[in-house]
Amino acid sequence: MRFDGTAGTENTMSETASKDPLVLFMPSGKRGRFPIGTPVLEAARKLGVYVESVCGGRATCGRCQIEVQEGNFAKHKIVSSLEHISEKGPKEERYEKVRGLPEGRRLSCSALILGDLVVDVPQDTVINAQVVRKAATDRVIERNAAVQLCYVEVDEPDMHKPLGDLDRLKAMLEKDWGWKDLLIAPHLIPQAQSILRKGNWGVTAAIHRDMDSSRPFIVGLWPGLKNEAYGIACDIGSTTIAMHLVSLLSGRIVGSSGTSNPQIRFGEDLMSRVSYVMMNPDGREAMTKAVREAVNGLIGKVCGEGEVDRHDILDMVFVANPIMHHLFLGIDPTELGQAPFALAVSGALQYWAHELDIEVNRGARLYTLPCIAGHVGADAAGATLAEGPYRQDRMMLLVDVGTNAEIVLGNRNRIVAASSPTGPAFEGAEISSGQRAAPGAIERVRIDPVTLEPRFRVIGVEKWSDEEGFAEQAASVGVTGICGSAIIEVVAEMYLAGIISEDGVVDGSMAEKSPRILQTGRTYSYLLHDGEPRITVTQNDIRAIQLAKSALYAGIKLLMEKQGVEHVDTIRFAGAFGSFIDPKYAMVLGLIPDCNLDEVKAVGNAAGTGALMALLNRDHRREIESTVARIEKIETALEPHFQQLFVNAMAMPNKVDAFPELAKVVALPERKVLSDDGGGEGGGRRRRRSRE
Ligand code: FES
Repeated sequence: MRFDGTAGTENTMSETASKDPLVLFMPSGKRGRFPIGTPVLEAARKLGVYVESVCGGRATCGRCQIEVQEGNFAKHKIVSSLEHISEKGPKEERYEKVRGLPEGRRLSCSALILGDLVVDVPQDTVINAQVVRKAATDRVIERNAAVQLCYVEVDEPDMHKPLGDLDRLKAMLEKDWGWKDLLIAPHLIPQAQSILRKGNWGVTAAIHRDMDSSRPFIVGLWPGLKNEAYGIACDIGSTTIAMHLVSLLSGRIVGSSGTSNPQIRFGEDLMSRVSYVMMNPDGREAMTKAVREAVNGLIGKVCGEGEVDRHDILDMVFVANPIMHHLFLGIDPTELGQAPFALAVSGALQYWAHELDIEVNRGARLYTLPCIAGHVGADAAGATLAEGPYRQDRMMLLVDVGTNAEIVLGNRNRIVAASSPTGPAFEGAEISSGQRAAPGAIERVRIDPVTLEPRFRVIGVEKWSDEEGFAEQAASVGVTGICGSAIIEVVAEMYLAGIISEDGVVDGSMAEKSPRILQTGRTYSYLLHDGEPRITVTQNDIRAIQLAKSALYAGIKLLMEKQGVEHVDTIRFAGAFGSFIDPKYAMVLGLIPDCNLDEVKAVGNAAGTGALMALLNRDHRREIESTVARIEKIETALEPHFQQLFVNAMAMPNKVDAFPELAKVVALPERKVLSDDGGGEGGGRRRRRSRE
């Protein structure tokens, strides 16, 4: 028997010469030659193709299903036919009769190789449940979970061989499944004898092994055949906690939900929560308790959705920003509130879930991704794992915009990361009419460059404000404020319409042209909606947005300088905020550097997707651990050049940087230089030239 285990390679001379049938597994492309009569499951195992099995080939679990592809696969020199696989035997027929098998599916433990075959291993598509606008990402995660279910039939006790019940269980797990040096979770020891007898000596053990070098652990034991186990992937954000419940055997997401982080009552943003810990002796405990309770509540919710018993959850993966990470784990985050922003621990961590008061199976394990730096957390590591800048040659910029923007820039050669204090302006705080994204909030804005009249869309209302029927539709939710995505758009549209100058000053002379330009003291503002409440964009609002976007852009630019690049090839916006902003307006405003707009994509909760990947495939844990170890962390506060980059970034889109790609799709306005009170043209008027 020979096998090369390589993907998509052509036949070798030795393969052609061999008489043994050639078997190609898809989608992995791994292939090898096996003697006639070899079970397909055994061939898959030998090639390292992942095919699930719980019953150990007894044709009772149904987890090992495959499909034979028929036809002439000229590229692989294989003619695959249903005649090249054995007919269903009595065991497989019994399974089909009792449990049913979808058309074309076979149990690979029972089906024997009789000739050349192309075998399809069906993959349950893992849907990234965080819908990114309409483009939900379909992502197939190859499975190699840290938990495996193994059914065994244990020898009955024998007075002549006084080996303990648990020892005989371990011996059988080694014989049938190859598990050596098994440890057993202590809580199972007193229960094992009754479980073995209840199952009439047939039991299913859940084995957890994260690292190949670590000893495997029996973490669960059930009488008879246990055919399902679940895992949780969770992203603890400062505002929202998001969770997926997923089958560890099929990779299928069976429940997804989110809840607001109850720590908000201790402080809106991260720093105020650190202050709360510093000022209150029991502050840390209270916040740890609050977030763990919320996680337990959310587990109840996703289990309800998926009709899953929470005690069937055996593995969990968590990502979070550094402060949330520390608070969830019960670590005082005070050191993260001040320079040098020391993490208590930056590496990946392993716990028993019950050690963190998480109410799932008593044997469930819990893994946290590593943190990148004091301000760039395990959530950024999760997003990095999901988007994989280190897996490609192109220079990828990955940004997660929150009150603190986390920025990762790199490719397979080198990755750098930093955070930048954008503040809460992008989330609607510090903005006179700002609010969180909720029904009634303006989410889209357009301004007519001739009349300066706006039109907008409101969350919860289908129509635009200038469409017939808007007022009736909006009556129920009202028009209550501006959310983050609209703040970006309204300021960018004001710039494109000439209402504000490149430096962000509202042009007072426009008041003659439009009643929407209002004088407020020494400055001017723009009236977006004349209702109850009256919604305006003030000079202060624009300044707040400028400060936030300058912090983000300067951080990005600093990383570009570290990488020695003038432009980036592709940009990924992670996080909820990124999902709703229009990349074009983000670029007009100068949040992000110039880039082909087709290459700017929102990827939703990429941190959560990274957690999911680490849950379903333990190899991804090693991958992100080694990647994080080689990410170079840049502390923006220590870079003397940062201030100049920040000042340059105050202009729209930027004082010195060129935006040639943006100029291809957007006519940038003439340059105006106005004094702070919106009057005069201090620097004269000149045509803005696109700088190459
Ligand atoms: Fe269980 Fe084939 S391995 S049915």
